[in-house]
Amino acid sequence: MTDQVDIANLLEELRTFEPPDEFRRNAVVSSDAIYDEADADYEAFWAGQAEAHVSWFKKWDTVLEWNAPFAKWFVGAELNVSYNCLDRHVESGYGDKVAYFWEGEPGDKKELTYKWLLDETCRVSNALKELGVRKGDRVAIYLGMVPELAPVMLACTRIGAPHTVVFAGFSADSLSGRINDASAKVLVTADGGWRRGAIVPLKENADEALKAAPTIEKVLVVRRTEQDVSMQDGRDVWYHDIVPNQSATCEPEHLDAEHPLYILYTSGTTAKPKGILHTTGGYLVGVAATHHLIFDLKRNEDVYWCAADAGWVTGHSYIVYGPLCNGATSIMYEGAPDVPDKDRLWDIAERYKATILYTAPTAIRTFMKWGTSFVEKHDLSALRLLGSVGEPINPEAWVWYQQVIGGGRCPVVDTWWQTETGAIMISPLPGITKLKPGSATFPVPGIGADVVNDKGESQPFGGAGYIVLTRPWPSMLRTVYGDDQRYIDTYWSKFEGKYFPGDGCKRDEEGYFWFLGRVDDVMNVAGHRISTYEVESALVDHETVAESAVVGRVGQDKAENIVAFVTLKGDVTGDEALLQELREHVSKKIGKIARPAMIIFTEDLPKTRSGKIMRRLLRDVAEGRPLGDVTTLANENVVEEIRDKAAARAGKEED
Ligand code: WT7
Repeated sequence: MTDQVDIANLLEELRTFEPPDEFRRNAVVSSDAIYDEADADYEAFWAGQAEAHVSWFKKWDTVLEWNAPFAKWFVGAELNVSYNCLDRHVESGYGDKVAYFWEGEPGDKKELTYKWLLDETCRVSNALKELGVRKGDRVAIYLGMVPELAPVMLACTRIGAPHTVVFAGFSADSLSGRINDASAKVLVTADGGWRRGAIVPLKENADEALKAAPTIEKVLVVRRTEQDVSMQDGRDVWYHDIVPNQSATCEPEHLDAEHPLYILYTSGTTAKPKGILHTTGGYLVGVAATHHLIFDLKRNEDVYWCAADAGWVTGHSYIVYGPLCNGATSIMYEGAPDVPDKDRLWDIAERYKATILYTAPTAIRTFMKWGTSFVEKHDLSALRLLGSVGEPINPEAWVWYQQVIGGGRCPVVDTWWQTETGAIMISPLPGITKLKPGSATFPVPGIGADVVNDKGESQPFGGAGYIVLTRPWPSMLRTVYGDDQRYIDTYWSKFEGKYFPGDGCKRDEEGYFWFLGRVDDVMNVAGHRISTYEVESALVDHETVAESAVVGRVGQDKAENIVAFVTLKGDVTGDEALLQELREHVSKKIGKIARPAMIIFTEDLPKTRSGKIMRRLLRDVAEGRPLGDVTTLANENVVEEIRDKAAARAGKEED
């Protein structure tokens, strides 16, 4: 509720930002007629986008077959994603155009042209075939942001083998869980990845994961960090041993528009991540159209930079598929923003003359903390548009981003979407939308969205509730991989006929959308989704832990941190060493991003008489709020103890 009060105040205090005249004049979208057109007939609108942005081997018979909640888009059509991202650009004379200015963390640089990407993609396609991959087989990818990453993803799309990319920061356990759920046949990984000058031991993690992932038959290993790694005879193959000598020709498969394109795992409200399934035609239309409209892309002028990681959906949609389909020139950076110094991103942006930058509020807040001097060292005058994604952006960070990075001249597109939606759903169109710092503004043309109460009733402007999406859209998830029932239960059961994303949202008097964070037991840590249950089960998995409750603590700046309340077994004492051990344990089970910022040892957890842990109360404790009525608790006195311990630990937490 505090969120709403804050927002109400900020709405009054903060100014609005109109697109500068010149920006508006040259914008891809310079008239709001597009909204009415799209609303009048959204299927026709998406069909128009499909004609404009994608080349089809065979056109569709029907735009949409909606058998709620199961959608088929561009029914009967055939296409190939890698053909759209590569071949057709090369065929039309753009072979020498740079697709990625790639820069490694240690400072090595490569210009990856469309021609090189096409050739390499074909070679990888042929290598995957040699390793036994056939149309429909799943390929797991566990790589850092290396030059081979896009060719590997594109090769999968070329031969019709759905990929599942696993973020390189995830642990061996997380990797094996995903491989098993997808029954992947081949894994593509690297010896290691660079992160702050240290090696992330990808191959070692993969070896560990494969002990529990029997479906993997072959492992293709990219050499990046060059330390010794073990290679298992008959299973593991070096990329440089088999890819370079493949033919650079590989006919792209003509795939049905609904052929599975990829599976990407994301946390839900249970300990088991969901495999979000995206398919070929609709997804490509969705990402290409939104990338063009929202980032106002001028293919031959812009240097576009999405500073995300390809392990997340942002990287899939807005580093790889959207920009390549649109023939963009992008920047791809491998490493951390503070190597060798805190101006690394600004140094890169200056050298390649980045015109568009897309990053996350968590990164923006970090840059704010580091201070403006690192920015001021560099000429960022080529920037003309900024984007934000991943979590609500607090107005202060928005204004800092707009002023300090954007020099006060760049519109900021705050883009709301999810792994499930595949593409941006709520966002300004930078040439026409009057911006309000902290608001993602309006639904993208063609998208239907509403704010409803518990009963599913639409709330008038000025009201708050849950956001729902009211129409199918081309890039929507098709199901949870292998679990249609979970798809129905999670997204389509709360409100009849409406998609429920799990976010709270307020609409102001002018209809602007203001996101209020998740309404379920999902945390958003540094723009990444982690379920409280996942962290709890990782903690309980440790031999000393009897029980645990995990909550997300949201600070003033809207950043969310993981706080864990832990009850230990028998006479184990909760000292500093154990605290660190538990953090490491979570890191090992899930990945570093899931490490609690604060762990509080407690004799007991606050529970209702029916034994349910009162998470809301724990969140109040974590966020330092006065506690309300605790008389429904079975164990009232425990709250006092927890509060004292939390206060004692405050200020001692780590990153
Ligand atoms: C959740 C989706 C979308 C790619 C990155 C995260 C939150 C995302 C915004 C935004 C407020 C946002 C939502 C959403 N979220 N963008 N602009 N404003 N909240 O993808 O891991 O699937 O997480 O991130 O809570 O449900 P994801």
